[in-house]
Amino acid sequence: APPLKIGIAGLGTVGAGVMRMLARRNDEIAARCGRAVEVVAVSARDRSRSRDCDLSSVRWAESPVALARDPGIDVFVELIGGSDGAAREAVAAALEAGKPVVTANKALLAHHGVALATLAEQNGAGIHFEAAVAGGIPIVKTLREALLGNRMARVSGILNGTCNYILTKMREEGLSFETCLAEAQQLGYAEADPSFDVDGFDTAHKLALLATLAFGVQPDPGAIHVEGIRSITLADLDAADELGYRVKLLGVAARAGDEVELRVHPTMVPKHWPIAQVSGVTNAVAVDGDAVALTLVGPGAGGDATASAVVGDLCDLAAARVSRPFGWPVARLRPAGKPAIQRHEGG
Ligand code: HSE
Repeated sequence: APPLKIGIAGLGTVGAGVMRMLARRNDEIAARCGRAVEVVAVSARDRSRSRDCDLSSVRWAESPVALARDPGIDVFVELIGGSDGAAREAVAAALEAGKPVVTANKALLAHHGVALATLAEQNGAGIHFEAAVAGGIPIVKTLREALLGNRMARVSGILNGTCNYILTKMREEGLSFETCLAEAQQLGYAEADPSFDVDGFDTAHKLALLATLAFGVQPDPGAIHVEGIRSITLADLDAADELGYRVKLLGVAARAGDEVELRVHPTMVPKHWPIAQVSGVTNAVAVDGDAVALTLVGPGAGGDATASAVVGDLCDLAAARVSRPFGWPVARLRPAGKPAIQRHEGG
């Protein structure tokens, strides 16, 4: 079969990671999916920036929207980020043209996922977003497909690599919050605006997506109780340590009667619990179903880990494996319920 032709908008850490991964894995992808995945066109704000990938055979599109509408591409890959502006416009343009979208953009989907999924349904094109939640951990497919036989009670975990990196480094090396954040930015883990990481909104965006997948609800991101890690001091981490705890930024979505309660806040976790031992940029997602309870642990941010999820979605498309974006018809989604009441007990 002819290769699946893709266009990538946004060539930062993740975009360059996708280019490199496709370059080294395409023979095996072609053998296993029935066709190769070929990057034919890209767009990025700065064409001249040096990037750690080979762009010699790709076309440059004028803009993300022009790329999304380019008749020469079969799939639009959105790695621009941001819940509005260019990312939203370009994703909508691709779906309107009937083109499947692969995106790592949790902010976009948390705010406009239902509208975009509706557009996807109307145009017979899918939205694939494994990369939007917990980087390299395949939690989207796990909830949407593998565990569909379960009634879910709760989905929770460490969903932001930058915060977990900061909390780990502060405690282990006694470094300041600012130094650890600067390192996380240097390593390509943090969002373009790192306040999304440290103030908990990135975790809330991912949690909203997990809640939709697990419970069929559409949470209002503005109604989630969100508290970040900005005010956590070294003294707090030491005091928790002495008492036998680690401090972790957790996101929790739990069934509460007919509603689903969502909250994000720093949590004291007993040191001997497995989740307390998840360190650095690693994420962990715990799923409690009535038949299966499990925890997936893996790299939650970074170019290669996130590229792995993007490429996995591209392979699904190459092999023509089709799923509904959230695993539910949009008409079946319901509100999540009242804003969560703040609670202080462990995750
Ligand atoms: N800034 C995010 C994190 C990237 O640190 O987890 C992955 O979504």
